[in-house]
Amino acid sequence: MSRTAILRQMQADLQQCRRCGLCQGRTQAVLGAGVPNSRIVIVGEGPGRNEDEQGKPFVGRSGQLLDRMLEEVGLSRNKNVFITNIVKCRPPENRDPQPEEIAACRVWLDQILALIDPKVILCVGRIAATQLFDPHFRVTRQHGETRQLDGRLVMATFHPAAILRNPSYKEMMEADLRKLAQLIEEDGML
Ligand code: URA
Repeated sequence: MSRTAILRQMQADLQQCRRCGLCQGRTQAVLGAGVPNSRIVIVGEGPGRNEDEQGKPFVGRSGQLLDRMLEEVGLSRNKNVFITNIVKCRPPENRDPQPEEIAACRVWLDQILALIDPKVILCVGRIAATQLFDPHFRVTRQHGETRQLDGRLVMATFHPAAILRNPSYKEMMEADLRKLAQLIEEDGML
């Protein structure tokens, strides 16, 4: 089966998931979107209202900002990136996902990472960064740093929603994305 077919099957299976309480409030569970054989996976927090309605990650205001910022460094979910989230169902009122929800949902993220097998993971925001980068992650201190995890390069940066709330962070996130794009280019990853 091709990666695309497996992702389609996973998306269907995910709609049956009852591993945590978030399933009760969802319209659709959101697996992810983008290029199935990309070298880069971007991991956000969880679906918001728009994502829950449309079944796709990062389609609301913060997603549009993320797309624009990625485009500026030559990255795009239509070309060379796959985007997913730590939890696949919308937390009520967009609250932070709880540790037990994150733990219950981890199997889906692990399956996605095993299937796509990216060289690079970019965590956007604290929730993804505490799971995949550093449990004590502090964004203002550690954004743009990189480390190795299971043979992959991991970087963590701001969540685009934080940029919308506080535009003074935008330049720092842009610099992180430029650094990431440069590392990717040096490595001939795309
Ligand atoms: N915020 C996220 O973290 N993920 C989405 O998919 C949308 C908004």
